[in-house]
Amino acid sequence: MRRLSIVLLLCCLVDWSLNASLDPSALQSDPAVVNLRNYLRIRSEHPNINYAEPIAFLKSQADSLGLPYKVYELVPGKPILVMSWLGASPDLPSVLLNSHTDVVPVFEKSWTHPPFEAFMDENGTIYARGIQDMKSVGIQFIEAVRRLKAAGVQLKRTIHLSFVPDEELGGADGMRKFVETEDYKALNVGFALDEGIASADDDYLVYYAERSVWHVDIIATGKSGHGSLLHDNTPGEKIRYIIDKFSDLRAEYKKRLDENKDLTIGDVTTINLTKLRGGVQSNVVPEKMTVTFDIRLAIDVDHKEFEDMIQRICKEAGEGVTYEFEQKGPYVETTKLDDSNPYWLAFKKVTEELHLPIKTLVFPGGTDSRYVRAGGAPALGFSPIRRTPVQLHEHNESLNAQTFLDGIGIFEKIVTAVANV
Ligand SMILES: *[C@@H]1O[C@H](CO)[C@@H](O)[C@H](O)[C@H]1NC(C)=O
Ligand SMILES: *[C@@H]1O[C@H](CO)[C@@H](O)[C@H](O)[C@H]1NC(C)=O
Ligand SMILES: *[C@@H]1O[C@H](CO)[C@@H](O)[C@H](O)[C@H]1NC(C)=O
Ligand SMILES: [Zn+2]
Repeated sequence: MRRLSIVLLLCCLVDWSLNASLDPSALQSDPAVVNLRNYLRIRSEHPNINYAEPIAFLKSQADSLGLPYKVYELVPGKPILVMSWLGASPDLPSVLLNSHTDVVPVFEKSWTHPPFEAFMDENGTIYARGIQDMKSVGIQFIEAVRRLKAAGVQLKRTIHLSFVPDEELGGADGMRKFVETEDYKALNVGFALDEGIASADDDYLVYYAERSVWHVDIIATGKSGHGSLLHDNTPGEKIRYIIDKFSDLRAEYKKRLDENKDLTIGDVTTINLTKLRGGVQSNVVPEKMTVTFDIRLAIDVDHKEFEDMIQRICKEAGEGVTYEFEQKGPYVETTKLDDSNPYWLAFKKVTEELHLPIKTLVFPGGTDSRYVRAGGAPALGFSPIRRTPVQLHEHNESLNAQTFLDGIGIFEKIVTAVANV
């Protein structure tokens, strides 16, 4: 009973403090919140995005900041916009604040509020596709720069704010292409910030690396024939061997993850069977079957050894078994979290000064950060969202306006610190 009453008392306190800190009408009229909601109302969901709309919005943002911008169209209809704020020492490597303008599709019927209306409820929570992933971060970058400029701050390094398309499709027509261009190289990026993931508890999550994505097709060929016989050398037996071996590996990695509470999904290699194809007719043994695995290699895996193992498994499965990569992500240098990386030291110092608890992690999926890192600049994935249900790509994606505003304050400090390194 006693315990219960303490819990009840705590609940009351939490309610009270929440209500006291929130004034929905002040949030409604906050210019940064207005800006965010306008951006969210632009329907930039896959497929067939009309990127002209977010670009027009972003141009007006650049104008409102008094910043010059450039639009690069490496693939027709998929523009990249970069706004630039010149530093006092423009020859120093710059700081890139990258965000993507696209969002994933919605199943509108499953949403309580229309996903492109940016409805705000009585507690200041805004519901919209892309509010976590990652339009809020794009606007936070803009608003942090707006506050710094308004305060008359002059930073040492140049800041570039890039807004890229197609991240949700893997970035092939977006950041991946952009980092290879002379235009990107001319930005002279020394350090970048990009998206992270919301956190449900008190910790902010900071991502310093990503696993390498390998999508591999394994093709087993063999004797075709009548389904009533027991031929040797059939593709089915070979596919079974392959699936067994990969499933054993999967179980081993899963065990490693389950048994060590310090590990998160980004710390281990994952393997998933994602496609299985073959066959022409029920009573005919086919001459070919194919299985596809989605493999994410942990950052400590030796790529050559892993491929050698795939090769060995194919060989053991029998003759006529080959493999092909649909995607073979290279090893990408991780962003160093030590004294060798002054940007990290500056970032960390700000989180300490603000008493923000952080957790550093390997990103479980893929973001544009991997291209930036591969392009030679350290990058951190950080969305300043905590005490928030993690809803990226889900129905009812939401974020509280107060959390969003707090994030602008955090970026104001972080951007200042890393730009003055
Ligand atoms: C969306 O949110 C509402 C409450 O706000 C809830 O009733 C509904 O189940 C949610 N939908 C999904 C798919 O989570
Ligand atoms: C607003 O917050 C209060 C207190 O936490 C909660 O009881 C209420 O359900 C919330 N309203 C909405 C629409 O989520
Ligand atoms: C993929 O496989 C790993 C185990 O290797 C598992 O932990 C993970 O949840 C799987 N992903 C999906 C989407 O099933
Ligand atoms: Zn994203």
